[in-house]
Amino acid sequence: MANKKATLAIGSENIELDVLSGTLGSEEIDIRALGSKGYFTFDPGFTSTASCESKITYIDGDQGILLHRGFPIDQLANESTYLEVCYILLYGEPPTEKEFNTFKTTVTRHTMIHEQITRLFHGFRRDSHPMAVMCGVTGALAAFYHDSLDVNNERHREIAAFRLLSKMPTLAAMCYKYSLGQPFIYPQNNLSYAGNFLHMMFATPCEEYVVNPVLERAMDRILILHADHEQNASTSTVRTAGSSGANPFACIAAGIASLWGPAHGGANEAALKMLEEISSVEHIPEFIRRAKDKNDSFRLMGFGHRVYKNYDPRATVMRETCHEVLNELGMKDDLLEVAMELEHIALHDPYFIEKKLYPNVDFYSGIILKAMGIPSSMFTVIFALARTVGWIAHWNEMHADGIKIARPRQLYTGYTEREFKSNLKKG
Ligand code: CMC
Repeated sequence: MANKKATLAIGSENIELDVLSGTLGSEEIDIRALGSKGYFTFDPGFTSTASCESKITYIDGDQGILLHRGFPIDQLANESTYLEVCYILLYGEPPTEKEFNTFKTTVTRHTMIHEQITRLFHGFRRDSHPMAVMCGVTGALAAFYHDSLDVNNERHREIAAFRLLSKMPTLAAMCYKYSLGQPFIYPQNNLSYAGNFLHMMFATPCEEYVVNPVLERAMDRILILHADHEQNASTSTVRTAGSSGANPFACIAAGIASLWGPAHGGANEAALKMLEEISSVEHIPEFIRRAKDKNDSFRLMGFGHRVYKNYDPRATVMRETCHEVLNELGMKDDLLEVAMELEHIALHDPYFIEKKLYPNVDFYSGIILKAMGIPSSMFTVIFALARTVGWIAHWNEMHADGIKIARPRQLYTGYTEREFKSNLKKG
């Protein structure tokens, strides 16, 4: 809604722009008219740019608030389940009992994948990074489910959403099983979403696997805490890919590729590696010194966030879950001790205070996943599995609102026009 105006003075020209207000958060200057006047805004990394309108997730980075469809993340993590959160993200309202049962039945009845997809896995080296395999097989789903790829058809979009939501845990667990050289384990539809994932990860044909309810709940929470985070790099990638009308499986594969980087979803793997490298509390000062050194590229992984300039509210829940899991397993993890001491030191250090660098969601998740017996190479895959619902919700919202192809401009700093003369010998 626009009720304020901003005036941009460029030389002698005054350009009047609308100031838009959402229901929460900062006001935004509508610069769409600038292009036709010969100006573009320059904002690498989109630090001051709202790329779209959205009703799904709200973050107040200064206050450390995260709301999905208006509901605070800690309430969702403590009082809901991942599948209910998925419903809320996709449809906007909490489901009634009947709506939820239908939703759950649809998701759980589509967990199997086309049997031929198993053969795709065998084309990958066993030592491939599971994120490389996830990118490949997710994109390949379009080759198997091409009966519902009309992105302008609401029902097709819904079917694709169900397929992705249902099949991601199966594909993620297959990546793990393939890396071990173990047989793939078929999904079991009587288990919960998180329980079924753990079953497909850890069951073998030789013995019964009983899902531990504390670990099942912890996995469910990890999925809830990673479900969506508004216009982050991977979600923006999914929207950008989708803005051309590309099919949903290709768009989600693009999101997975973007998530893989260590500044984004890859941070959970990197954070655990860092804690292992630090290995004991006596080494912390040296790592803090390196993180502060401008000439050293080292950063404290699991610290800092583009939007949160306060404690990441997801990290608070993750920390509690970490203690619950270690208690249940009767484990005393030295890395948790290192993590808590590192957090304590960093939170009292002027460098981190001034730059508002706080632990983010990835700081504790690696310790939990490691305690569950999940190797670090699978951490980002689990993030991708959890974030799929957020990506789909945004992709769908973009289509429902009417798409416009994403086509940013640039500040060109290359050569001006010059004459071409080849340096190669003729003939
Ligand atoms: N350790 C040390 N210094 C840091 C860190 C860190 N983790 N993060 C930022 N800084 C410093 C940075 O050097 C810069 O200093 P200066 O102003 O003197 O140049 C200042 O803080 C601002 O950093 P920035 O890189 O300009 O901030 P950004 O908003 O572009 O980056 C970030 C955000 C998350 C990429 C960054 O904080 C980072 O690399 N953190 C470590 C990786 C990580 O944990 N990522 C997970 C993010 S949460 C999960 C997700 O959403 O994917």
